[in-house]
Amino acid sequence: MCRGAPAGAGQRERAAVNSTRTVIVLAAGEGKRMKSSLPKVLHPVLGRTLLGHVLAAAEPAGAGTTAVVVGHGADQVRAHLAEVAPDATTVLQAQQRGTGHAARVAMEATGTATGTVLVINGDVPLLRARTLVNLIETHEAGGAAATVLTAEVADPTGLGRIVRDAAGGVEAIVEERDATAAQRAIVEINAGVYVFDAALLGVALTKLNTQNAQGEEYLTDVIRLLVDAGHPVGAHRAADATEALGANDRAELATLRALLRDRINGDLMRSGVTMIDPTTTWVDVTVSVGRDAVIEPNTQLRGATVVGEGALVGPDTTLLDTTVGDGASVVRSHALGAEVGPGASVGPFAYLRPGTRLARKAKVGTFVETKNASLGEGAKIPHLTYAGDATVGAGANVGAGVIFANYDGVRKHQTVIGESAFIGCDSTLVAPVEVGAGAYVGAGTTVVKPVPPGALGVARTPQRTVDGWVERKRPGTRSAAAAAAAAGESVAGHAGAGGERSPEGPGDTATE
Ligand code: UD1
Ligand code: CA
Repeated sequence: MCRGAPAGAGQRERAAVNSTRTVIVLAAGEGKRMKSSLPKVLHPVLGRTLLGHVLAAAEPAGAGTTAVVVGHGADQVRAHLAEVAPDATTVLQAQQRGTGHAARVAMEATGTATGTVLVINGDVPLLRARTLVNLIETHEAGGAAATVLTAEVADPTGLGRIVRDAAGGVEAIVEERDATAAQRAIVEINAGVYVFDAALLGVALTKLNTQNAQGEEYLTDVIRLLVDAGHPVGAHRAADATEALGANDRAELATLRALLRDRINGDLMRSGVTMIDPTTTWVDVTVSVGRDAVIEPNTQLRGATVVGEGALVGPDTTLLDTTVGDGASVVRSHALGAEVGPGASVGPFAYLRPGTRLARKAKVGTFVETKNASLGEGAKIPHLTYAGDATVGAGANVGAGVIFANYDGVRKHQTVIGESAFIGCDSTLVAPVEVGAGAYVGAGTTVVKPVPPGALGVARTPQRTVDGWVERKRPGTRSAAAAAAAAGESVAGHAGAGGERSPEGPGDTATE
């Protein structure tokens, strides 16, 4: 089974770096260009918010305190953190006076004066845990005062440029708006991810000014201050430049989403998953998919979804927080909070709502909606049915067009169908009601009383047959002509459609 993001990596990577450290994530900015009521760092990308991705990447590196600087939409960001990173502390930056100011506020609030500080912009969702660990290792091996994560990008527009001296050492980071034409030509950019010696960072942050194009305290100015004071500053270049990409507007967000999709799908395919069309297959980082599973086009696997080995999912299917067992199939369907057992079959065109549980080899077929419904092993609901608040025993068969009437207008009630029971087509089961093991319900029955095990429950108005009605009431129609022809045939040959049938039996009323 492979996860979009390797789950076991955290343990290994934590072991690789072990000095005490503070992680500071900068997440106070508004992200004006998102044009959103949601703070930028809360926008979702394949299973996590931007901030959630950053925290997940930082998790293996954060041996000490993790502080998230909040400001714009602070309450929303705090509420989100309580869910995804309850151990993180939040630090309020009431006014967004720049990344340097944000780092200073966090250093003061956490009382960080010694050790190593990792500072990460909150909007770099493609950053890998492995890269952060490499950055820290480079920093520690080099004994530098600061080490910056950089990347070479095709289009550096809008980003801080890494200015190096003749010997190749990092000299400064210059923001695009403050850069000279020569500096703008530099394609090595600042990813917004840094490791600092805490004591030296603390001193440098007190020396920042706002003499720049944006009138802000730039964290990036710390680099020049450290170099000028004679401290060594290092850089670690990310092998994969996409890791450094941030999102400032929704178009950039879509670009990041597609890059992450390609990364996740590539990992899954290399782990033995077949994807017929990886460009239209969107898998959250939190999803796992087993070997030899086949994912058909236009499929979204979201949240805590788990797809088993050899399962078939799609096309045109969305699964949220849904488990699909080994060898099961889910075709052109929508499932939320459902469990599909091994070898079970769903769709085409099924809607599984929360609390749906299908045991091994159960079937939910075409135009069937289920909610809080458990199907036993091999139980079948093949067509056109609503099954809410139901237990369907192993091997039971529910015919076409059956409604589990679970709602009385005030409360929801349970329907229990026993093992190997048989529900005829177009029946309504008015809950609470029970159909016993091996019992039958005749087609068209409204079940309002329990049907004991092995009994037949049927409620049906006797049929009235009016011979010759069409000839009298619809003369000259195609129906009348067809009836006349059939009467001729019947006179000429066999006995016609006359066979007597009991009005009570289920007859050929169920479907399979
Ligand atoms: C920053 C860097 C730039 C780098 C780029 C990488 C600075 C001055 N520039 O620019 O060199 O190439 O990131 O994406 O740091 N934030 C706060 N409080 C503030 C201001 C910002 O918490 O007062 C947070 C934002 O929420 C965001 C992060 O800091 O998560 C970066 O801020 P942003 O405004 O996006 O910086 P950039 O202009 O992109
Ligand atoms: Ca940015």
